[in-house]
Amino acid sequence: MHDLYLLASAQKTVGYVVAVILLLAFVVAIAVNVRKGRAEVGSEVELAPNRKPYMDDEELETKKLDRTLGLGLVALGVIALALPLYWLAEPSRQTDMVKDFQNVAVSRGENIYVNAAQCANCHGPNGVGGAASYTILDPKTGAYVDQVQWKAPALNTVMYRYTPEQVTYILNYGRGYSPMPAWGAPGGGPLTEQQIDDVIAYLTSIQLPAEESQKAVQDELDKVCKADAANNCTIAGGSYKTLGEAIFNLGYSDGFAAGAYACGRCHTSGWSYGKAKVAGGGAMGPNLTGGSEIRQFPVAEKQEQFVSAYPKMGTSYGTNGWSSGRMGSFGTNPNAVDPKTAIMSQDQVMLTPDQIAAVVAYERSL
Ligand code: HEC
Ligand code: HEC
Repeated sequence: MHDLYLLASAQKTVGYVVAVILLLAFVVAIAVNVRKGRAEVGSEVELAPNRKPYMDDEELETKKLDRTLGLGLVALGVIALALPLYWLAEPSRQTDMVKDFQNVAVSRGENIYVNAAQCANCHGPNGVGGAASYTILDPKTGAYVDQVQWKAPALNTVMYRYTPEQVTYILNYGRGYSPMPAWGAPGGGPLTEQQIDDVIAYLTSIQLPAEESQKAVQDELDKVCKADAANNCTIAGGSYKTLGEAIFNLGYSDGFAAGAYACGRCHTSGWSYGKAKVAGGGAMGPNLTGGSEIRQFPVAEKQEQFVSAYPKMGTSYGTNGWSSGRMGSFGTNPNAVDPKTAIMSQDQVMLTPDQIAAVVAYERSL
């Protein structure tokens, strides 16, 4: 690929050389013309091209004809050689251009992430997750309640769950109920549309390899739950009864991936700053308790499908559900639809089908 790229730039050099030769020839032609034009006044009567005798038939039909035909043959040969060479290098030239373009966007995005917008201060270097200070006020009186550390989820899997459109929306408007500010012009933030695109290009470039992410989740689950065959947790004195409950709350007490894989951060009020109220009782995401999920999804598989592949924004789900675009996909990578062109692979997913079935069973029990 790289050799072809060199070939493509060699072509460019040849192009420049040809251009310079043509330019020189042009200058010479003008010089010659000017010199010819200096002949004495009146000489054009004899020297005018239409008054000079031309070659006779003998010469025209032999030497002149042969020379012209010969030149034509040479030109044809050049075309026959140059065109295939050009087409040979063209596809790699184009993909390399796209790659270069992408690399420039990624480095601009990184600069925004680290310096200009300082996303790294909250979300950690390379998007490993972090936290931000936040003041909780009483919703009734507006009085000061608490100063908390609000988890800022890891972003090194963010393109596993959201499409670029969903991330653009989050970045444009922020999450007003939390420390996450609005960054885009539509939400009154400082970044332009181009800068938001660059940040997303950067985020895409730092996504974890699939095995690494899946192993991290499994290691964490082994630490906090260690499920048996019936998906009950076997850790004596542990916080969770079932595998589903442990997944719902992944990272709650030890900050694993700052809650990126968890459901509680959106479905349990207070979860993100370690003061979880009713489990699944609703926060930015709806209340899942009181049998609501059995009413919304009379069949469990439909709920698994919803959690796995979040429906397109503006489409319906379940009995009366309507997708707003705010949740994400946890079992199907929304950015790996075409394995040939996708930057991300199809197995880059947040949770396995078994893990999703476990967490859905937990939600249906709330
Ligand atoms: C002051 C701290 C802070 C800064 C700076 C910040 N964020 Fe956030 N961000 C948060 C917090 C906290 C959340 C979680 C909000 C919640 O609980 O819903 C969040 C959520 C997000 C989410 C949604 C993740 C998810 O899975 O739900 C994305 C994407 C995101 N931030 C990207 C960025 C980017 C990109 C920047 C820089 C342009 C940035 N953030 C700057 C604190 C911050
Ligand atoms: C970033 C926030 C967020 C996270 C994280 C999140 N959800 Fe949601 N969830 C929502 C929102 C918002 C809705 C409401 C539907 C919508 O807006 O499209 C929702 C809806 C749901 C529903 C349908 C509820 C109903 O009755 O209509 C289920 C089930 C659900 N989520 C399960 C989960 C599970 C399981 C996880 C973790 C694997 C999870 N959610 C993680 C925000 C989130």
